[in-house]
Amino acid sequence: MKISVQKLPEGALKPIESDPKKLGFCKYFTDRMFTMQYSEADNWHNPEIKALGPLNLEPSSIVLHYAQEIFEGMKAFRTSKGEVNLFRPEMNARRFNRSAARLCMPSLPEHDFIDSIEAMIKLEERWIPSSRGAALYIRPFMIATDTILGVRASSNYMYCVILSPVGPYYQEGFNPVSLYVTDEFSRAAFGGMGEAKTGGNYAASLLAGRVAREKGCAQVLWLDPVHRRYIEEVGAMNIFFVFEDRLVTPKLNGSILAGVTRDTILMLAPHLNLKAEEREISIEEVVGGITTGAITEVFGCGTAASISPVGNLKYKDKDYIVNNRKVGKISQTIYDFLLGVQYGEKEDIFKWNKKIEF
Ligand code: PLP
Ligand code: COI
Repeated sequence: MKISVQKLPEGALKPIESDPKKLGFCKYFTDRMFTMQYSEADNWHNPEIKALGPLNLEPSSIVLHYAQEIFEGMKAFRTSKGEVNLFRPEMNARRFNRSAARLCMPSLPEHDFIDSIEAMIKLEERWIPSSRGAALYIRPFMIATDTILGVRASSNYMYCVILSPVGPYYQEGFNPVSLYVTDEFSRAAFGGMGEAKTGGNYAASLLAGRVAREKGCAQVLWLDPVHRRYIEEVGAMNIFFVFEDRLVTPKLNGSILAGVTRDTILMLAPHLNLKAEEREISIEEVVGGITTGAITEVFGCGTAASISPVGNLKYKDKDYIVNNRKVGKISQTIYDFLLGVQYGEKEDIFKWNKKIEF
């Protein structure tokens, strides 16, 4: 792919927030964006990097009406030696194409997906924070741009990558969060789009998220849409329950996002002498296990959230406090291992990092 790079005008570069504590999550964006177009006749064409700015979209664009859109979430980390790594980007490239297939969108060659990100990171390197816990968040996305209001898949698309320096996703940082278990709303149904990373799933989650915040919780823990019984995932994370030295996470059932961090933890578990099970786990088993102490820790995991200990589950207006709302030993060990590899402090035995060559 031959990317055309537009030179930014003198003085166009924005000042960078230098205090990592003030970064928050995706409040600031870098100076440039990558865009590329797709048409049935020309396939993917016109890859370019130019100044970040409004997209030129007709009001009748299909994405604005029928939400034909997909995205990814990744991070570039600056290591303690000053190098820059992407974390398992091929996993995001593959998931992007699985999401594309579900939404009748064209696939994007994996190497073009990764090249577009690498080219952006090389130009925007000064934006990559160097403090541990902060990173450059990468948001590739694809939207449907046909200008017609019949309900059908578009034949024209735009692919775009934007970047944002980020700190922790939750204001709690690595401290335990509370989750609200909803038995009123569903995020996705079987046969729906739950395992695709598409905006509609997040739109479906907003009202429940608002209720969760009104009840003092950071996010929603979703149950299955049929029985409202089996645990699925959290608003922006997958979830793990710790039974002493055993990790249990809901198995992928078509309505859960196949998280890269989830997969990473399942790979890591045997190395840490932990057993790992992917299976159905009911809310009764969870609240029962928390009550009896069989469940010793709960944590969520995701690119934005990293590892996020859970200190409380609110279910049917009752609080189930986990591990005295403290960070557990296993959550801490997994967090230390993951960040150790991401920030280049620990040997990358599983070859998760992809180093950017400047
Ligand atoms: N589940 C949902 C709904 C998410 O939005 C995310 C975040 O991307 C995850 C799970 C975790 O996925 P990953 O580890 O690939 O970031
Ligand atoms: C991520 O973890 O990358 C996500 O995409 C979560 C997001 C919806 C904020």
